[in-house]
Order: sequence, then C-alpha cells, then structure tokens
Amino acid sequence: MSRYTSPTWYKDAVFYQIYVRAFKDGSGDGHGDFKGLLSKLDYLQQLGVDCVWIMPMYPSPLVDDGYDVADYRNIIEDYGTLEDFKAVVDGLHQRGMKVIVDIVVNHTSDQNAWFIESRSSKQSPWRDWYVWSETDQKYRDARIIFLDTLSSNWSFDPSSGEYYWHRFYNQQPDLNYDNPEVQQEMLDIIDFWMERGIDGFRVDAVPYLFEREGTNCENLPETHAYVRRMRAHVEAKWPGRILLAEANQWPEDVRAYFGDPGAEEFHMAFHFPLMPRLFLALKQQSRKSIVDIMQRTPVIPPRAQWCIFLRNHDELTLEMVTEEERQFMWEEYAPEPRMRLNLGIRRRLAPLLDNDARRIRLLNALLFTLPGSPIIYYGDEIGMGDNIWLDDRNGVRTPMQWDFSPHGGFSEADALYAPAINDEIYGYQHINVVQQQANPESLWYTIRHMLSVRRNYRAFGRGTFEFALPENDALLGYWRALDPDDDAGGEPERFLVLVNLTDSEQTSGLDLSAFAGIAPVDVLTGQPWSQIDAQPYTFSLPPYGYYWLRLR
Ligand code: NOJ
Repeated sequence: MSRYTSPTWYKDAVFYQIYVRAFKDGSGDGHGDFKGLLSKLDYLQQLGVDCVWIMPMYPSPLVDDGYDVADYRNIIEDYGTLEDFKAVVDGLHQRGMKVIVDIVVNHTSDQNAWFIESRSSKQSPWRDWYVWSETDQKYRDARIIFLDTLSSNWSFDPSSGEYYWHRFYNQQPDLNYDNPEVQQEMLDIIDFWMERGIDGFRVDAVPYLFEREGTNCENLPETHAYVRRMRAHVEAKWPGRILLAEANQWPEDVRAYFGDPGAEEFHMAFHFPLMPRLFLALKQQSRKSIVDIMQRTPVIPPRAQWCIFLRNHDELTLEMVTEEERQFMWEEYAPEPRMRLNLGIRRRLAPLLDNDARRIRLLNALLFTLPGSPIIYYGDEIGMGDNIWLDDRNGVRTPMQWDFSPHGGFSEADALYAPAINDEIYGYQHINVVQQQANPESLWYTIRHMLSVRRNYRAFGRGTFEFALPENDALLGYWRALDPDDDAGGEPERFLVLVNLTDSEQTSGLDLSAFAGIAPVDVLTGQPWSQIDAQPYTFSLPPYGYYWLRLR
C-alpha cells in the first residue's frame, strides 16, 4: 500500500499550513483566494509536502480571521465559490496531496444565523444553541484565553437581557454542546465537507466544548464523550479521513484525546508543549527542556500520531511552560512589547532566530525527525519575516512572497488585505520563492532536500523514539527506528539524529558498541562516518550542526 492510500497515511505525511487570504490573489482584489491557490499547487508539489491544511474559509465577519464562522456550509466570498474550493481539492489529489480544513466546533460568529435567532428572545427555539445565563458569575474557574483583550468569558446581551458564554472574543459565542441538536449539526457539517472530498479536519479549540460548575471547563469527560462520537461517525462514514485536535494542553491531557483502541478520539493532535522548548533549548544551549518534555510525553495508541510544528498563524504560545521559562522566552525572543501577545510571542520563525540560517535549518532538522508528522507554516520554507506593527496576530499572516515584482507577486491590486513585508532584511525584494529557487544553497532547497530524504524512510513518521544522550548536554541525540514487521514492510531502519544546540563546535561520545562494525551514513549528504568499534564512538559537531545518521 502506498503512502497515499494507506489508512494511516497521516503518519508519513508532511503537512503545510495555508492561510488562503495570504497565499496568492487570483482575482486581483488584494485578497488571496482559491483561484490563486490553485495556480500554486505545483509549487507545493515541488516542495514535497503531502497534505495541506486550509485555515477557515467560511463566510465570516473576520473578527478572528475566520475562526468566527457565520455560515458553515459556504465559502467566504472573497475566497471564491464552492466550485473554486472543489477545484483546489481535486487539484491537490491529482498531484498526490491531501487536504484538511479547519472546523470551528466550539463557537460561531455572533453574525451566524443560529446566534441571531438565539439572541432574538428567550423563547427562541434556537435559544438553547448557545450558553446563556442570568448572571456572569458562573464557571469562575475557567481561565481567560485572550488575556490582552478580555476581562470575562461572559458578555451581556442587552436585547434579551442575559449573558452569553464565550472562550474567545465576545463576537464568538460558544455553542451549547448539552443541546443534542448542536451535537448533531456539527456531524452534519462534517459530512457536508467530507462529501466535497476533503481528507479530514483540523478541529479548533477542542478542550472547551462543555462547561461544568466547579471545573476549569477544559477537557471534561463530556467533551471526550462527544469526540468519541465524532470519531465513530467519521470512522463509519469516512474511513481513511482524519481528525486533528487543536488542544493546547500538557502531553498527559492531550494523550486522552487520542482515546484508546475501541474508544478512539482523534487521529492526530498537536504537540504544543514541545514547540517553545525547541526555542528554549537554543537559548539555553542545552537539551534539557526538550528531554524533559519528551520524557513527559506518554506513549500513544498505534493509530495515533503527534503533529509537530515550529510556528503557526497564532502567537508562539507560552501557555505550556513554567512562569520562569515564560519570562525567559519573552526576554530572549520578544524584547519589544509589540512582539508579545496574550501569553505568547507574535513573531515568525526566521526573525525569532535572527535570520541565522544555521539555527533555522537546525530547528527544521529537528522538526522533520522528532516523533510525529511535521507541519510547515506557509512562508517559513523561505524564511519570511513578520510585521509587528500590524495588530493581533496579523503580523505573521502577511502576503506570501513569490517574486521580485510589486507586492512580492502576491497580487496585482494596489491595496492588499495587509501590506507585503517590505523591509531591508525580510522584504520581498530580498526574500521570495524565485530568488530561493535560483539558489541551490537556499533555505527552500534545504527544506525540500530534507523532505525528499525523509520520504525515503518511514522511521521518522512511524518509528520508535529513544534518547541517545552524549555526556555533553549541548548535544541532543536520539534514535528513530522501525522494524519491518511494524506494518511498514521492507528493510529495518535505524537512525541516530545528532544536533549541536550551540554556536561553537562540540565534541562528545556515545557507547555504540552494540553496532560495532557498522559505518553510519549521514543520509542528508551521503557521507559515511568512521566505522564503529568497541570503544566509545566520538564525534564533533560544528556550530548548530545536525546529522541524520543511518546505521545499517
Ligand atoms: C485557535 C486558532 O488557532 C486561533 O487562531 C483562534 O483565534 C482560536 N482557536 C479561536 O477559534
């Protein structure tokens, strides 16, 4: 069975996250759209990604950039039509790629017809679709997520005289999952999009579906029960298609969202706590935080898979670190107040790493070899910059930089939804796809190369993970291994990944005597290393060096 047709295809897949508005304007109105995206599918294929994640594409007043859905069964006008969407889905499939889309299950827009009906009166048949209360004193133990903007999870609705509950902006009322109609409606919406050929969903804001007094209203048993229902529905009607959980929680709490064989929940879930620790490790010049979080990461069921990432469309969240680590991360990575947002840092990958090619490549080398399926955020493959002068998270959602022409070739319009980056380092005149594709040493080629090497093996997506820790804690090492009977077939695969987290050369050794007689080969360069013997195997890594060694 091929990588594409396997029922667990998502375990081998590399994902690519697309904000359609930012990707390519095909209609000339200054907003990216599905026509534009369609014209760039060959680009995605050249890069070598396997599955695209499309951020919300539904009609929306865009208070939260489409995570406030006004109509779940349509496409926002400036992105095009359902036919344009279908053309992208088909075009991806023809090129051997898959596609998942966001589904926003926890809340809607206040402009959604359901909410307009619901707030119209206390007697409305839709009243019970949302969470209403006479007081704003319920569920006091639930935290506020958009800390910089909100002081309460309740907002007063003057027309009907009650408060409604919302975990995000006040224009994003939470749906009431105690109402069976709401539960059924979401399953119907899942069917609507599956019928249009998508391969699954990234399910937004999963932990918050239910509210119960005396709890923090996250990860409740009722939420898990509904997720199991959702999974059973997908499994029965749409086998081979996936559900990916956005649950920004500690690994042990996310583990529960995979469920167990016979009572499965999500196929995949993001590993949020790992992400900030990759950045932390670079500044601390020590692997400690990575080792700690991986040791805290439970084993997951055979069909489950982590999704790992370096950056996405939100702030680099610091919710899953200690207070001390958060302060350190802010000081080191967000020296300007405008770089901070809520409990995070609103910057892109390249600027976070001072545009240092060595560190950018190093973090990508980790992204593609740590356990899970990697996700690349659009533009990070060319090292795009950010614009901290745009509000909220818009600074990391600027137009994709395709070439040297005005607006980086993103659009022919005069005015764009947001300006293309135009500064001396990250401006489209300096960083764009054409420029990188003309230079075999570019980040784009490096990433493409890593993906093409990764594709030859299944150990990175499916294999076991075990640390191989040299004495020197500036070096991180781990094994990724897969035996043929692990459902992959073929030859056993065993890799030793070694990285240097510092800006100076580091030397150390490992006891590899169990592999005496083997000469490891760096699969990224094809270079053989010296043969292993009974002695500790010693090696030196250049500043921020990384190796994917195959022991065969
Ligand atoms: C998580 C999304 O990633 C974020 O962009 C959004 O604001 C919230 N969920 C609310 O939907």
